[in-house]
Amino acid sequence: MSLKLTELKCDYRRNPIGIDSIAPVFSWIIESNKKNVMQASYKIVVKQGDNIVWDSGKIESEQSAFVAYAGTPLISMTEYEWNIIVFDNTGEYAMGMGTFETALMNREDWTAKWVEPIQKPAFIEPPRISMELGFCNVDVDDIKMEPAQMIRREFFLKKPIEKARVYATAHGIYFLELNGNRVGNIKLAPGHTSYYAYLEYQTYDITKDLHQGKNAIGMVIGDGWYRGKVGISGQSCQYGDKVAGLFQIEVEYKDGTRETIISDEACTSQAGPIDYADLYVGQRYDANKEQIGFSKAGFPEKGWKPVDVKNYGYEVLRAEYGDPVRVVDIIKPLRVWTTPKGEIMIDAGQVLAGHVRMRVQGEKGAKVVLEHTEVLDTEGNYLCNIIGSFVNQTDTYILKGEGIEVFEPEFTFHGFRYIRVTGYPGMPTVDDFDILVIASDMEKTGEFVCSDERLNQLQHNIFWSLKSNMISIPTDCPQREKAGWTGDAQIIAPTACYNMDALAFFKRWLRIVAKDQTEDGQIPNIVPYLKAYRPDGIVPNNTDCSAGWGDVAVIMPWSMYEVYGDETILSDNYEMMKKWIDYIRYTAEHEMPKEYKGEMTPERREWNKYLWNTNFHFGDWLTPSVSFDFETGDVDMIQSAFKTMDIIPSVFYAYSTDIMKKTAKVLKNEMDEMYYSDLHAKVTDAFIKEYVDENGYIATKLQGIYVLALQMRLVPEELRSNMFNKLLEMIAANGGKLDTGFLSVPFLLDVLKDEGNAKAAYDMLFVDECPSWLYEVKMGATTIWEAWQAILPDGTPTSVSYNHYAFGCVGDWMYRNIAGIDKAESGYKKAKIKPLMDRRITSATGSFKTPYGILRNEWKQEDGMMTVKTNVPCNTTADIYLPQDNGTYKVEYVGSGSYEFSYPYVV
Ligand code: BGC
Repeated sequence: MSLKLTELKCDYRRNPIGIDSIAPVFSWIIESNKKNVMQASYKIVVKQGDNIVWDSGKIESEQSAFVAYAGTPLISMTEYEWNIIVFDNTGEYAMGMGTFETALMNREDWTAKWVEPIQKPAFIEPPRISMELGFCNVDVDDIKMEPAQMIRREFFLKKPIEKARVYATAHGIYFLELNGNRVGNIKLAPGHTSYYAYLEYQTYDITKDLHQGKNAIGMVIGDGWYRGKVGISGQSCQYGDKVAGLFQIEVEYKDGTRETIISDEACTSQAGPIDYADLYVGQRYDANKEQIGFSKAGFPEKGWKPVDVKNYGYEVLRAEYGDPVRVVDIIKPLRVWTTPKGEIMIDAGQVLAGHVRMRVQGEKGAKVVLEHTEVLDTEGNYLCNIIGSFVNQTDTYILKGEGIEVFEPEFTFHGFRYIRVTGYPGMPTVDDFDILVIASDMEKTGEFVCSDERLNQLQHNIFWSLKSNMISIPTDCPQREKAGWTGDAQIIAPTACYNMDALAFFKRWLRIVAKDQTEDGQIPNIVPYLKAYRPDGIVPNNTDCSAGWGDVAVIMPWSMYEVYGDETILSDNYEMMKKWIDYIRYTAEHEMPKEYKGEMTPERREWNKYLWNTNFHFGDWLTPSVSFDFETGDVDMIQSAFKTMDIIPSVFYAYSTDIMKKTAKVLKNEMDEMYYSDLHAKVTDAFIKEYVDENGYIATKLQGIYVLALQMRLVPEELRSNMFNKLLEMIAANGGKLDTGFLSVPFLLDVLKDEGNAKAAYDMLFVDECPSWLYEVKMGATTIWEAWQAILPDGTPTSVSYNHYAFGCVGDWMYRNIAGIDKAESGYKKAKIKPLMDRRITSATGSFKTPYGILRNEWKQEDGMMTVKTNVPCNTTADIYLPQDNGTYKVEYVGSGSYEFSYPYVV
């Protein structure tokens, strides 16, 4: 027997504790050393103790991922065991077993009370914005911030303990200690969220941390996104001005009896050593104020105060979903050196998101200041290049003077590569610092290597920008805004999924997107939708949304469905998706642009109902020729919005209705499918009538607009080649360089390739003059930049972010076309292996862990021979396109297994 089941997952995790899904989903991977193995049937039995709560019966189906539980309702705080037996098409069978444990499924399960330390409310910082370079250099001591709060409670456990859990969350970000020990290794819990609408609690297994007798629990709460300063304008108190905590300990004694210990009036509180902890400004820690042993029983509560018990309720509480934030890498700095200005700097060797762990020894009261930045100036000195307010990224440590002290500012994180160190006693060495990289702790699922080192570096840069911007939610950048810009997320999602198992991560975020959708269906530009970004805030917007950003509501579930084949992401989000289209439809029908070029005939008025062409939109954001001056490095971001926002919204109206049509089909909703097909046809028709002339040209002559029109098929078929040739002309006129903004760049290489011009696609990829991907690589980038010319050709740094993943969306294209790893059916049930050949690349290897297992492809052309080695996971099939030297392909249709093909091939 060679059949094996591996990686049994429930709700996307292995043996999870603390889930609250009503119908958790089960997935398993089948392995076998036979070829052409498919699942013939499965049977799942879920048990609670000896009771069977669900028996699926024998199901003849190939579904081996995301099978939803359909038994009797799950009970809170209960461990379940699931057993599965799978039969394959060769007559073999295999069995597997997993567990899952529920958290607090009902509001009534919460007996804990919200406790709020007695504290000074945080200062409500008004919005400020300055585009001046280095504005963040406002002295941290002049910024009004409040200390982190500590809460403690002692309790007595009467009997020996069998099992114990604690469920906890906060208004702010928190960590827990029990009897002097840190609980778990999650960072920034409960994560970035719309606190008033969706607040997760974490579940920790604390069986080993407790004992019979006296115990104590401690909680430390920092500002986090709740009351800290956020975004580009540095506004504070987005959700409240006081931090608070909530925890509930559930103990099961060995004799089967239970006991619950909760946060309540018995808690006391005190401000501790963390003078302030802000995600943007940084953290200051005064070791002299430490409350040593505060989470141990018997701690003398000198100066500790009672807490306020608050009625904040439990309505919005949900169990943690997806992978939490953790330290995912620990890096040794590359070097410590003295700059020309005589300052001490540390180089992490990599632009990243995280913070340090510093070891220091010195006199009591000595102050070490750490200032983080991504770039140096041209002389090699520290440079604060970030625009925006209160983005100091400065951590301060005040020594207590007792031996070696360790500082780890875990209530903040920064986007950086370099750190300026001031006040360190003596000269620090690389051994005094660890660089802790933080990210949502997702499994890495992709590998990409090819014969061109520059492209490998590009993939490296993409991966690091992904890591740095997948910290609890998808963000734009980890230093300036740390905000959930919806456009950036939809642009990068397919690439993100090649790199990490991001399904639950994005599902979690989509829950918040749905909560933040406005009454009239708008999907905000950033989610969580901070007050600081609302129309009366800093964004020049009269609505809450923008085309290509709000469309995340439709594009993201579809992208996830395509990669993972998980239908629940479509069904869970369907209402939100429909409501978004309703909003566009209503706006298109009821609003007319104030100014019209040309005559407004009755016919034109009619088709205008299907054009979305009013209000502010970011457009094809950061279109190089419109937004950048490549000589001076000047950036005028908003110009690309003004230049393209009349036409871009209708493109996305068409794109999103097309996705809705396909979604309705998957969900077997025929009426909706008809409705969206009809709407899509009308929008396409209106677009062509309004914007495409009889030659197939569009008046806005920008590469991005042409790319989008071609990709979304917004051109009559007979004029397609004209439009494409115009695009090639524009590219040639631009010296072969790209001129696409955020929304069009994901499709640029596909459009070039799909029109049969693989060479044009590769030519574009291989450009290394600015703007291009390889320009960044050439200039030494270790991440993806927000703007192509972030470092000017003469080496001058500019004031944009060095860690913005959006333009890294080319990663998806590289996996699909260079490594040749693509899907022929959603979720890779059937794979398409089809490398796109170019003489500049002689070999490539790519692998991607699909929901069915690892799909791998390796090809090499050498000495007139081509070798292709492919591994196809069980329960899937693949169409392997073997490239021939005449430019065609020979297709092999295979089942699971490992294959090798070798044949003459002349470049
Ligand atoms: C962000 C983006 C975002 C954009 C909106 C910027 O400040 O960093 O990446 O999508 O604003 O156009």
